Amino acid sequence: MLIDTHCHLNDEAFKDNLKEVVARANSKGITKMIVIGYNKKSSFDAVRIANMFDGVYAAIGVHPSDVLKEDDNLDWIYELAKDKKVIAIGEIGLDYYWDKSYNDLQIEWFIKQIEIAKELDLPICVHSRDASQDCFDVIKKYGNSKGVIHCYSGSLEMAKEYVKLGYYLGIGGVVTFKNSHLGETIKNIGIDHLVSETDAPYLAPVPYRGKTNEPAYIYEIVQKISEELNIDIDKVEKKIEENTYKLFKI
Ligand code: NI
Repeated sequence: MLIDTHCHLNDEAFKDNLKEVVARANSKGITKMIVIGYNKKSSFDAVRIANMFDGVYAAIGVHPSDVLKEDDNLDWIYELAKDKKVIAIGEIGLDYYWDKSYNDLQIEWFIKQIEIAKELDLPICVHSRDASQDCFDVIKKYGNSKGVIHCYSGSLEMAKEYVKLGYYLGIGGVVTFKNSHLGETIKNIGIDHLVSETDAPYLAPVPYRGKTNEPAYIYEIVQKISEELNIDIDKVEKKIEENTYKLFKI
């Protein structure tokens, strides 16, 4: 069984072909997918989509790049989380890549949503870009020891620190890129702390690089993990399935 723990089926890119995309994933053995929200609207869309299909779940929350645009009343998260398909809070985190002018506000929203996740006893899906140390510091101080660092591409040292906190690393298409050092990182970290994800429609793995990514491409990612770790792909799939269950209870 293959699992995509992070995809945006709620993105515009899938507006007209959602059913085909899910059917294509199912036909390639992908039986579980988590649709990730990044603001209020996309979180509601994620839950609506999750309720359309078996094996599709939702994470809800506000992405750091969206905090300026959103109303700061987050009561909707508590309401929406009552839906049984909601299994995580995310994606939340820090992104200093595009604009550094509101880092403090991002940190504030990150902490606020971690606190909600703790109250609701849900894991968090973390987005961290150009904010490695701050992100780690916030999680270490406020985190609830359940979560995934989505699309991990940071250093091996930082990866080890996250693992010590009980966090998982979300491994996506980047692992298939020629210039990526992620292979070395996962060799050192080992299969026990990894989950698989596409981040569709972004970051398609080789040989689809540059195209619209979709959950059906998770196979290329898991195959690459298996090659890097030199572990049989069936065993990798099984272990990732166990890790996903431990983290998300799905
Ligand atoms: Ni994402």
